Amino acid sequence: MVESRVRDPGLADRGRMQIEWAERNMPVLLLIRERFQREKPLAGLRLSASLHITKETAVLARTLVAGGADVFLSPSNPLSTQDDVAAALAAEGIKVYAWKGMNEREYYNAIGAAMSHSPQVTLDDGGDLTITLHKLAMDINDDSIRYAREMTGNIDFKSMVKNIYGGTEETTTGVLRFKAMEREKTLLYPIIAVNDSYTKHLFDNRYGTGQSTWDGVLRATNILIAGKVVVVSGYGWVGRGIAARARGLGARRVIVTEVDPVRALEAVFDGFEVMPISRAAEEGDVFITATGDMRVISYETILKMKDGAILANAGHFNVEIDVDAIERNAVRRREIRPFMVEYKLPSGKVVFLLGEGRLVNLVAAEGHPSEVMDLSFANQALASEYIVRNRSRMLPAVYKLPEDLDTEIARLKLKAMGIGIDELTEEQRKYVSAWALGT
Ligand code: NAI
Repeated sequence: MVESRVRDPGLADRGRMQIEWAERNMPVLLLIRERFQREKPLAGLRLSASLHITKETAVLARTLVAGGADVFLSPSNPLSTQDDVAAALAAEGIKVYAWKGMNEREYYNAIGAAMSHSPQVTLDDGGDLTITLHKLAMDINDDSIRYAREMTGNIDFKSMVKNIYGGTEETTTGVLRFKAMEREKTLLYPIIAVNDSYTKHLFDNRYGTGQSTWDGVLRATNILIAGKVVVVSGYGWVGRGIAARARGLGARRVIVTEVDPVRALEAVFDGFEVMPISRAAEEGDVFITATGDMRVISYETILKMKDGAILANAGHFNVEIDVDAIERNAVRRREIRPFMVEYKLPSGKVVFLLGEGRLVNLVAAEGHPSEVMDLSFANQALASEYIVRNRSRMLPAVYKLPEDLDTEIARLKLKAMGIGIDELTEEQRKYVSAWALGT
């Protein structure tokens, strides 16, 4: 098995303080950790994860270890690792192979390193670990597989996947990939779509990405949002959050672009302008994509933009803005500030691209605040436990976490926040479940 590798083990003390700070704001996960410590539901379990290596992920990793798991962490994006946190985790004996600024080969080496742990449960954010495993078991070859193989040697993946109880998936894009595999009957083990829990997408995607995307944009640019025209592509959970926070920061106009009529109508009724991207291109100062789709901002669209337009992406993969075309066509490229590159186009206009078009909140900022990851990672911890307890009954399909667990996470969060709610009386319970009572 591959050993830990981080950028600088000397950063461990700083990382430990970051993790401590995150723990103060993650009460639900800490409650789960206390129970895991007593009950050891993951005793002896080998667990590999491809997650953004942030202070919040460290709190999850400690929780899984408290439950008895042997954890190996690899990143879920080449630019999202917090090096101090990775160093702290390695220092406390949690295996981690990650540093900020990996190239493609190093990234898939890291995925290979996580596989060399022979996991029985996989945790994923975007699906790279699970899908690389599937490709290896199915003898599909590409660059990612060659790089992963550099770390796994000759492991027989066909037998290895038979020993995997199941996996989890954190984000919308990953869930879509697994649902496609389920439809094509290529999925080899069960996956719990953590993203589909209410206590995940309603909070993490909307309030977490809504705030942290702006955190990334502001750290990269330090511009004033008040007075700007902001264009948000995609009005799903993430887009709704980004648009709402743009308004809160004082944007002069917030324009939404969509392909789904219902979502577009919702944006209109929420008070935003809706128009095609070809028109919005001419009006926006700041463009943010959040669709999970590819080439949402094409090169033709970019050519229509004002001089000095700022482009950023919050969707999972770096395919939403046509970065390759900008790179190919630009006559000058200058890194003006960390995570902000200016491209001069042949027309003489410039555009600024943030974080290479990768998720700006994780590249230029620190990802979601701990309060939100408390909910998402409570789902991850309970999903891991659920897989271990129910593995004999689960088929290679995409599952949701049972609703009672989802509701319990919300209940614990409210309790930790000191917020009480009402309970149905017996009379009300009967009334809301009766069909015969009318006016
Ligand atoms: P969603 O499925 O709720 O929303 C996506 C929306 O984009 C849909 O309404 C769809 O109609 C729209 N869309 C698709 N193609 C489009 C196009 N060409 N032009 C305009 N609109 C288009 O998904 P959700 O949960 O909002 O996630 C969006 C992306 O953000 C996914 O890739 C997800 O994995 C990622 N994500 C990123 C996070 C981060 O930390 N940056 C956190 C959570 C999710």
